[in-house]
Order: sequence, then structure tokens, then C-alpha cells
Amino acid sequence: MNKRVIWKLLAFSVFSAVGVKSYAAEEKALKEYYKGHFSIGCAMPAFIINKEEAGLIKHHFSTITCENEMKPGVIHPAEGVYNWEGADKIVEFAMKNGLKVRGHVLVWHEQVGDWFFTDNGKPASRELLLKRVKEHITTIMQRYKGKVYCWDVLNEAIDDDSTNFYRKTKWYEIIGEDYAEKVFQYAHEADPEALLFYNDYNENRPEKRERIYKFLKSLLEKGVPVHGMGMQGHYSIFEPTESDLKAAIEKYASLGLQIHFTEIDISVYPWEKHHREKKPGENDELLPDIEKKQVDQYNMLFRVMREHKNSITNVTFWGLSDRNTWLNYYPVRNRKNYPLLFDRELKPKKVFFSITDF
Ligand code: GLA
Repeated sequence: MNKRVIWKLLAFSVFSAVGVKSYAAEEKALKEYYKGHFSIGCAMPAFIINKEEAGLIKHHFSTITCENEMKPGVIHPAEGVYNWEGADKIVEFAMKNGLKVRGHVLVWHEQVGDWFFTDNGKPASRELLLKRVKEHITTIMQRYKGKVYCWDVLNEAIDDDSTNFYRKTKWYEIIGEDYAEKVFQYAHEADPEALLFYNDYNENRPEKRERIYKFLKSLLEKGVPVHGMGMQGHYSIFEPTESDLKAAIEKYASLGLQIHFTEIDISVYPWEKHHREKKPGENDELLPDIEKKQVDQYNMLFRVMREHKNSITNVTFWGLSDRNTWLNYYPVRNRKNYPLLFDRELKPKKVFFSITDF
């Protein structure tokens, strides 16, 4: 028996004896593989803090993101009402375990209470909405000052439809185009030390990439405090191509912004935007040829990221394992997906080994 096997067996018996799963000791930590490149993180919900997943998160990652707990609709559900419970628990878990926290997300058009946009049954005025969003940003950021090192200040402001430049959200409609500048300014005033990110998806697609680039460039030219581009990275085995991925990283980085990959997962299905039911006969097993494509895609993605380590400072997965991923419910209800590094038993998948073998 070689030394590595003896060590594994020893670790297994010690950890089993104290009732702790042994997986944490089994694999070299992902963050160790990437020590010379960028920090590695994962999004987590508060309910897994006391579950076996927590051990795996502590072992492999050095940053975390709240999956939902800091979203406007959860943390600030009504005027003057803040619900800190979930976010506080995750931040406390992070502080106890030496993990850094990415704050997600201050301003978004989804998962936000309608109360922001109304005033006694009528649409809120620009002044009122600015006052509310300033108070929202300031209260949340000041609570976590020194604990949350960077924030996704604004999420998904650029439309998918190329005939629109901006997404026509209530933020945009009520405040006007300068809402983006305002929210970054409020964030910078609330915590001048925090790194401030713009965050978006399909950020790899050439046409949308150009609009995001123009948007960020115009903010920077106006002196707006934006420090980073959050490439969400909700990819699939079909996209992005290597050249689109490289072009996107290089384009955003050319603005002097640091890049975070904020929500990596690689779906085994083509990208779809709207909810639908599973079609009869629609297969949701992970077939070997699909798994191979996923391994190749993860491998390409991480190789390109390593090549761009001078621009990329954090890479975060949108979840830990295929057991808990939004892609098991979205866009197709009850269709299994396999987008992450660990399987439903929390064992590392082939994709884990494909991104650590370099
Ligand atoms: C977007 C958001 C995330 C999350 C994912 C899907 O990308 O930024 O907060 O909601 O969708 O779960």
C-alpha cells in the first residue's frame, strides 16, 4: 500500500470516528491548485451551514457569495424592513472560517419588492426612488463594512435584445439612464474600501459584449467608481467558444477593470431563458458523450482563465454540487442538470479533475 492510500484510510477512520465525513481530507483543495492564479469561491444558501456541504465549502473555497440572502427582495422586503437573518448567518460562517465574502446584489430588476417603485398606489417619482435606493445601498453596505470585500452593485442592466441598449427596468424607466451612475456613487460613499462590480450574463456573446463594454466605458469616462466586471459565466456545453471567451475577458480588462467570474455553472443543455415544463420523453440523464463535452468545456474555460490570471482575481461557482442548483428547476421544471463540480453525493466529478490537472 502506498503512503497516499494509507493516509486516506487513516484520515477516513479518524474522521469517521468523530462523525465527520472524510471527503474534506480526500482531495487537495481547489483553492490550493489555484493559489497562484485567483481566489476561488462558491455561492451558498444559509441552510447548508449545518449540513455536510459546509465542510466541503470550507475545504475547497476561499470566498463565498450568498445565493439569495442579500438580494433586494429577501434582505429588504418592505420599506424600513430589513431581514438580516440569512445574510448575517452566512457572513458569520465566513468570518469564523476565514472566507472572504462577495456581496450579491444591491440593484437588480428581479427578486426586488415592488414597494420600491410605488408610492400610495402610484408610480414612485425619480426623487423618491433615488432616496430609497440610496438608503438601501447605504444601510446594507455599512452593516457589512469590513466583512464584504466587494459588491455586485448593479446586475443585468443591458438588455438581451440588441435593439434595446439598456434593459427597460423600473429602475431605468423611473430614474432614467443615469440610475447606473447614481447607484455606483452611493455604493462608493457607503464603503469607499469596497470593490464595486457590474455583473451580467451572456457577457461572452459578441453583440451583447460590445454593449456592455460601451456601457462600462461611458461610466468610467464619467468618473463613476466601477472597479470590476462580473462575468456571470452561466455557460453550457455549447457555449462560449474559446475565442468568444478570450475576446470578452480581454475587452473588459482593456478598460482597466478587474474581472471576476461570479456565477460559473456549465449546463448540459442549450441556453433557454423562459420557464417551461419538461417535454414527454425529454431525457435528463448524464450520458457519457455529454459528460465528455462538459469535461472539455470546463477544461477549456479554466485553461483560458489561467492564461488570463493577470486580469482575473476571483472565480466563483454558482453552487457547490448538482444536488442543489437552480438549473434543476430552471428553465425546465424538474429536469435534472449536472452543472457543477460535485455530484449529488458530493463526490468530485470528472470535471473537478479536469480543472485541477494542469
Ligand atoms: C442571475 C443572478 C443570480 C442568480 C442566477 C440564477 O444570474 O445574478 O443571483 O439568481 O441568476 O440563480
